[in-house]
Amino acid sequence: MNWHPIGEISDIPLRGSRCVKTPHMNIAVFRTGEDEVYAIENRCPHKGGPLSEGIVHGNAVTCPLHNWVISLETGKALGADDGAVRTIPLRNEGGRLYIALESLVMAAE
Ligand code: FES
Repeated sequence: MNWHPIGEISDIPLRGSRCVKTPHMNIAVFRTGEDEVYAIENRCPHKGGPLSEGIVHGNAVTCPLHNWVISLETGKALGADDGAVRTIPLRNEGGRLYIALESLVMAAE
């Protein structure tokens, strides 16, 4: 895999996120209260809401537009809602974060 550096975990507040723009899609990188990090497409499967602006709780985020809850681990909508966003492989090496670019190229095809 071609790992691309996107900064440090300390750049992201606890239970917060930051948005990483790529030529193929915008990615939301989340840091949970347990210091886990996840990268998913920054586009709610419901109507495209910006998940990076949602509320992080546990390993999930609530979309700011209509409150769908999306798993950060699987990208799937939880509860009664049906849909999913792409998850992006993310590596945490001693606090330095990398995402895998091949998957982004594939996502654009
Ligand atoms: S756009 Fe996310 S819940 Fe509607």
